[in-house]
Amino acid sequence: MENKANQYIETNRALAVRSSHQPILHFTPSLGWMNDPNGLIFFKGEYHLFYQYHPYQTKWHQMYWGHAVSHDLITWQELPIALAPSEVYEDSTEGGCFSGTAIVHEGTLYLFYTAVAKNAAGQLVQKQCVAMSEDGRLFSKYENNPILQNDSLGKENPHFRDPKVWQKDHTFYMLVGVSQDNVGKLVLYRSENLLEWTLMGVAFEEPNAWMLECPDFYELDGKDVLTFSPVGIKGEYSSYLIGRLDYEKGRFQVESRGILDYGVDFYAPQTFLTPEGERYVIGWQNGWEWMYEWNGFGELTENSWCGAMSIPRKVIRKGDRLHALLPKEISQLKAAETVIYDTQTDGYQKSVSTIQKPTLIELSLEAGETPITLVFKDKRTGQTDTFTIEEHLLYHSEGNPLGRKDITLPLSSRSKTLKILLDLYAIEVFDEDEGTVLSVNSFFEGALARDFSFSCSEKGRLKQVVVTELNGKQLIKRSVKG
Ligand code: FRU
Repeated sequence: MENKANQYIETNRALAVRSSHQPILHFTPSLGWMNDPNGLIFFKGEYHLFYQYHPYQTKWHQMYWGHAVSHDLITWQELPIALAPSEVYEDSTEGGCFSGTAIVHEGTLYLFYTAVAKNAAGQLVQKQCVAMSEDGRLFSKYENNPILQNDSLGKENPHFRDPKVWQKDHTFYMLVGVSQDNVGKLVLYRSENLLEWTLMGVAFEEPNAWMLECPDFYELDGKDVLTFSPVGIKGEYSSYLIGRLDYEKGRFQVESRGILDYGVDFYAPQTFLTPEGERYVIGWQNGWEWMYEWNGFGELTENSWCGAMSIPRKVIRKGDRLHALLPKEISQLKAAETVIYDTQTDGYQKSVSTIQKPTLIELSLEAGETPITLVFKDKRTGQTDTFTIEEHLLYHSEGNPLGRKDITLPLSSRSKTLKILLDLYAIEVFDEDEGTVLSVNSFFEGALARDFSFSCSEKGRLKQVVVTELNGKQLIKRSVKG
């Protein structure tokens, strides 16, 4: 099955030669549909990015695991498909190989994923499975899959998915998202050998969400961090908890809670641990139809692909908060020409640039009462995206049939530098003083040019705007040679 799909990709890749709608710095598959990042891991000298993938259509359908590798988290090489839905326990066209994680044990790479197929009664059910690889290229599924058939109540469950596996001392732990009586929970298991698992209990539950998807768990600067994507809480699509996992009771003791990204186009985040011990988070740079602010996946008909990953962001902990920062590699991509606008003029209003290449906009702010307005205008259609900076940053889209509904990013009086990374339709706004981020897609209608203008009537409030074009060399290698 992998072979058939890989052959199909090779043959059809020519048709897919870089669509002009394709972001440059953000990883996208060259063909087909992509959603969640899966199994992010550093193994044998490379970062491995797996992802939810369907090769044959640009919309969600039976799931495979796509695969790409990188040395710097910015430049990616596509590889052949890692997992295809080849077995009876994952063979439904509405199922396949769903999200999961990776772990290295004694030199072997283990991928944990959710297999989705219909049971005898014709109901789609979800079970946990594992595949192994010695070289990070070829993967074999474990012969005794599935390793977890029933949920924590001993029942087959249509919403029992997205295993996260890690090691603590000599024991392995697994968190799986589950929906029971319309409540989203994360169930904890324990194992000595990665293949046989014992139920410990419910580590966390969220009564306001009917399902918790794609958990991640890691230690950061002396605390435990648990992240997940809740289904059912308006405006909250990537939550984090800081606290302590009680490994005896199997319960996560929450000390604080926050949101990894305030936008609507950042979902199912997972992290890499670098060899130096740093954490980088990647989310799927899109959202699902059920999200309130969402309004489309883009111009699918013009593209042979759909879906992008966010820029990998460095995650650090500051007290009871997580901060997400632009990776330093971005500044190494700065092209020679940097335009600096001194805006210390009353009522400044200027159209400064046509954004056609990946661009970084850096704003230096002074505290003040007067709003600052940033406008991106599609040259052809006149559609506008406006960011208004007051107490909050408010995103508003006008005249775009695929535009998102209003989204807000909290700012504080400490907010002095805002950075906006633009890569075709993908917009990521970083408040590096607050550590908060807002991701939003602004799809173009056709013409790939927009004007950026800004205005503020209070002298000195907007100290400086730096617009830097980034080296948009082809950063994703499109050969699938393993
Ligand atoms: C999250 C999700 C996961 C699931 C996958 C299927 O976006 O719904 O819970 O495993 O997508 O593609």
